[in-house]
Amino acid sequence: MARLPLEDNFNDVINKTQRGLKISDEDLAKRAEVTVEDLAAVKGGKPLFAVIRRVARHLHLGPDALEILAKKEWYPEQPNFPTGFAAFNTPFEDMTVNSYLAWDSRSKIGAAFDTGANCDAMLDTINAEKIKIQYLFITHTHDDHIADLKKLAEGTKAEVWASEKEPVDYPGARTFKENAHFHIGPIAIKTLFTWGHSPGMTTYFITGLSWPLAIVGDSIFSSSMGGSPTHYADQLRNNKEKILTLPNDTVLACGHGPLTTLGQEKRHNPFFTR
Ligand SMILES: [Fe+2]
Repeated sequence: MARLPLEDNFNDVINKTQRGLKISDEDLAKRAEVTVEDLAAVKGGKPLFAVIRRVARHLHLGPDALEILAKKEWYPEQPNFPTGFAAFNTPFEDMTVNSYLAWDSRSKIGAAFDTGANCDAMLDTINAEKIKIQYLFITHTHDDHIADLKKLAEGTKAEVWASEKEPVDYPGARTFKENAHFHIGPIAIKTLFTWGHSPGMTTYFITGLSWPLAIVGDSIFSSSMGGSPTHYADQLRNNKEKILTLPNDTVLACGHGPLTTLGQEKRHNPFFTR
């Protein structure tokens, strides 16, 4: 997969945090002791580093991580998966979205995670590697993530699964509770409810591959996280309680942007580096 840009710029992080915390521009400028004009410039993408650092503190974001994001000085080191894992990136409107495959390379049985905008490349890999897809897991049902559900479900004859809190409008789709376990040979998949961005957002924590792997949907992005104007605090809390507590070498496969690892995000993600 080509090198994907980070999903959010520093000002996207500021804007989504401010929306989530419901702090007005006037209030934020006052608290951070910056002018309304400078705040507006930063929110529009102008990298005024001193202003960014002041604003960060009042939004409970890591000032160093946010400044590094604004300077574009960091990109996550990409984990190496020799077998049993593949990532796909497809264009959807003015952005791109990720979908993933994980499989047992001995039995060639696997699972798909979301469909992306278009599942053709995924189907090509499934056919080339002769994988039998047993499960089609959904992280959440925002359009971009399940745009090609019918084609992938019919093309693989996989069981379609999603959180009971995120009902799927698809005939025969099944739902799981939190902490459900699925097994594919030596691979174990556990469902973690990391909701906020959507009501039933699910992180699939997978062990038995080269690295522990978390398919996080839009819960977390490298250097950012999924926004929510209404459930921001829930998203942040669920991420901290259920993802940040996974092993540091866990690979995070995000719904948008590049792969990363938990250890790297603990050092570089402004939401978790205060
Ligand atoms: Fe998304």
